[in-house]
Amino acid sequence: MILQRGEAALLRHFSRFKLHRNKVDGSCLTFRHRWMKITPFMHGFKLMSTRPNKENVDLSVFSSDRIRNFCIIAHIDHGKSTLADRLLEITGAISATEKNRQVLDQLQVERERGITVKAQTASLFYHHQGVPHLLNLIDTPGHVDFSYEVSRSISACQGVLLIVDANQGIQAQTVANFYLAFEAQLAIIPIINKIDLKNADPERVEAQIEKVFDIPRDECIRISAKLGTNVDKVLEAVVERIPPPAASPESPLRALVFDSNFDHYRGVVANVALFGGKVKKGDRVVSSHLKKTYEIQEVGILRPQELPTSQLFAGQVGFVVAGMKDIKEAQVGDTLFLQDRPVEPLPGFKAAKPMVFAGMFPMDQSEYTGLRSAIQRLTLNDSSVSVQRDSSLALGAGWRLGFLGLLHMEVFNQRLEQEFNASVIVTAPTVPYKAVLSSAKLIKEHGSEEIIVVNPAQFPDRSVVSQYLEPIVLGTILAPDDFTGQILSLCASRRGVQKNMLYIDDHRVMMKYMFPLNEIVVDFYDLLKSMSSGYASFDYENAGYEAADLIKMEILLNGRPVEELTTIVHRARAYSAGKAMCERLKESIPRQMFEVAVQAAIGSKVIARETIKAFRKNVLAKCYGGDITRKMKLLKRQAEGKKKMRRIGNVDVPKDAFISVLKRKDK
Ligand code: GTP
Repeated sequence: MILQRGEAALLRHFSRFKLHRNKVDGSCLTFRHRWMKITPFMHGFKLMSTRPNKENVDLSVFSSDRIRNFCIIAHIDHGKSTLADRLLEITGAISATEKNRQVLDQLQVERERGITVKAQTASLFYHHQGVPHLLNLIDTPGHVDFSYEVSRSISACQGVLLIVDANQGIQAQTVANFYLAFEAQLAIIPIINKIDLKNADPERVEAQIEKVFDIPRDECIRISAKLGTNVDKVLEAVVERIPPPAASPESPLRALVFDSNFDHYRGVVANVALFGGKVKKGDRVVSSHLKKTYEIQEVGILRPQELPTSQLFAGQVGFVVAGMKDIKEAQVGDTLFLQDRPVEPLPGFKAAKPMVFAGMFPMDQSEYTGLRSAIQRLTLNDSSVSVQRDSSLALGAGWRLGFLGLLHMEVFNQRLEQEFNASVIVTAPTVPYKAVLSSAKLIKEHGSEEIIVVNPAQFPDRSVVSQYLEPIVLGTILAPDDFTGQILSLCASRRGVQKNMLYIDDHRVMMKYMFPLNEIVVDFYDLLKSMSSGYASFDYENAGYEAADLIKMEILLNGRPVEELTTIVHRARAYSAGKAMCERLKESIPRQMFEVAVQAAIGSKVIARETIKAFRKNVLAKCYGGDITRKMKLLKRQAEGKKKMRRIGNVDVPKDAFISVLKRKDK
């Protein structure tokens, strides 16, 4: 470190800074505020490997050949965030006190569940053979629901680190993510992580990588992200094996928006990758998508907290704030260009398509306004959620929301509860079906022959439809061969059609299946995991629509149809599905003061029935006289239980019954 001036003052501030960081757990606001105080003493501070500030970060020194943009992809829990931590730590972007903190997992739900939900960007300063380089890393989520985050992160990169757990080997998302990177023609660096584990078998994993991906085994780097073993080799490989971005600062500005966040004070903060030109505060830029002009108010890089800089140059990845007031203005995949130098937009990518829809209603209608603003605020930062107003007789006014998958829906729900203290009822999830209309009147009404149905209650009757279509996915299952028999019968019970089966080593099998999305979306993965003692993994990608013989099945409670429990099922499975739903409702609805009949019906025909018997006696009846405390306790417990219930007709239904009703128990 070369400290030329104000050394003592600088060090004094450094120590104060560190103390402060420890105390506040490194929160971003405090960090920036404190850092601003240090800047006057920083004039002589030359070395980039420590925390840089606005004055000493001159990004113009990083011409394209000194830039590497890459993302970390892997199956869930194979160690992406841990490796990201190590890379940030080695390059000085975070301090050692933040070690193993998974600093890129910033949401509360990410920390609690130990999963990454949102891709995060961080710029690292790294000296390779004495030459300073700017490395931009994007940590991506591993779960299939968030593969959209992976595909858009890939668009901003020239290479990927493909991490594989040395113990578990290649899993379903490893395969899916590999193909995303391969199709985008990115350089792929295979990394075998967790070599410190007792059961680690890096040789076997290398052989799998060679067989499945055709990557020579000597290209694999064996590391332990947790202990930091060989992580320096990863940085070297990033510089040596990933090509620099082919972008020139002389060409006109072409900035690809690959992610965006909403800040209540500044509006949209758009993450951009510059495929040409440069951008600075005061520039007037146009969005190709909306053709709207904005003035750039702030530019900078992410370390992973925002670090404003004077300019961003071709090949670099950073953020811009341009006074956009709505997240829809910074559409992911859009290209920004200078007002006076128009360019052809970059290819961009397909918008995220919600694949699971569910109704969302407040527990009580008095909470409607609060919930509306919570949903609005949450969707500001998650543009992949689609929102439509909805209402139901039983649950009142609410919304029909579209999610990328069931985990996405659960995470959204959890965030509503944790970040906004909102308690909601979520109805049975459904997939987007299509109906080809035959009635001229309806075609005119809808403006097209084919309609998408995201609410089973609005499923059109067969008399006005020439064909129903259901979404199909191509699923990949990886599992030890001991479980093959059980898995095959599970797939058959879910109307799966086998496409391929391959041994990736002596014991592990990869199977490819076409499934109706509806059959796998709710509980397939859970069942697969439990039947294989956690060893099987599953991933899927959309594979279009296929004609199917679908019917609408209604559930009646004491003869009254409950719209929110209506589902669409395949005709061949209607009886078994109806019976299973009635049984599960019987289990989840508590006994009431009267008998409750739970029925499944197709049209006017009842196909299954269960009966929930009435309470036999009043539990409070005996609590008379002096036993007032016990009586109070019981009343309190009953009231608390009721809070989690919703009255439909005269029956109290627990709020989670709407989802649990779809979970099947086939083994
Ligand atoms: P998602 O973001 O949910 O996809 O997970 P991830 O791939 O980011 O994995 P993460 O970094 O969260 O690590 C998962 C678990 O593996 C954590 O408990 C880590 O502590 C552990 N882990 C990561 N790397 C290593 C390693 O090298 N050795 C050992 N023993 N454990 C590791």
